[in-house]
Amino acid sequence: MIWGLATSHVPSIGAAMDRGKTEDPYWKPLFDGYAPAREWMARHTPDVAVVVYNDHANAVDLSVTPAFAVGAAASYEVADEGWGSRAVPTVVGAPEFSDHLIESLIDSSFDITVFQDLAVDHGLTVPLSVYCPEPGESWPCAVVPLLVNVIQYPQPTAARCLALGRALGEAIRSFPEDLKVAVFGTGGMSHQLAGARAGLINQDFDRMYLDAIEHDPEKLAALTREDYIREAGSEGIELIMWLIMRGALGPRIRRVHDAYHVPASNTAAGMVLFENRPLPR
Ligand code: DHB
Ligand code: FE
Repeated sequence: MIWGLATSHVPSIGAAMDRGKTEDPYWKPLFDGYAPAREWMARHTPDVAVVVYNDHANAVDLSVTPAFAVGAAASYEVADEGWGSRAVPTVVGAPEFSDHLIESLIDSSFDITVFQDLAVDHGLTVPLSVYCPEPGESWPCAVVPLLVNVIQYPQPTAARCLALGRALGEAIRSFPEDLKVAVFGTGGMSHQLAGARAGLINQDFDRMYLDAIEHDPEKLAALTREDYIREAGSEGIELIMWLIMRGALGPRIRRVHDAYHVPASNTAAGMVLFENRPLPR
């Protein structure tokens, strides 16, 4: 694993890129904040990205609610969320690597669901656009989607997400081929889209989270789902997905860059990029 990226997946960030609005005064500060991370990632291209994300009842409706799932397909169509699909490349999978991760995770007692057929919504495509704004004909790397239920009670606990991340890190390191892997933890930061608290933004909590994801992930793993929803809003619980990325990182990490911006649409947007440094021999 060469790096881990945590990033919000606000759909309007993708729409701003798709419609050429990134230089507009509203959007420019957010995209300027991404620039140093994008420049670094462009020089450190992975072969495969494991993108930890949630579907928003676009491809997976509430008739089935897997707590954790991994895609094992050769490719993933871009979902139509009601306005037509985003004009971004189809996502190419890595089926052999998926199969290895699934087997390894199940052997580590994470009984995950497997998707052989999956369309990917803004939860996955917006983070890919944050990584690579101009993919051209194809994304720079293959993708393994790792889905987390954050939209339907009871969501997995934050502690379980950190533990899954640790098992994911082991699974990645045990793949026999020499692949360069990045892991994305997506969603957040504080936001609530509906109800009496719609528009909730908690900058103190977000800043604490951006710091503790590096220095004290155990503290974030100890928060209950009620803590997440109270502090970060009903959709802010997406932040538990950052802990899966964090758990997959090894013991020697370096913060390459971070950015935080309010507002993006009706939400707070954050990102943090970690280099995963090799262990000394
Ligand atoms: C919005 C949707 C999301 O899934 C999210 O994580 C943040 C914002 C939105 O519709 O604005
Ligand atoms: Fe979301």
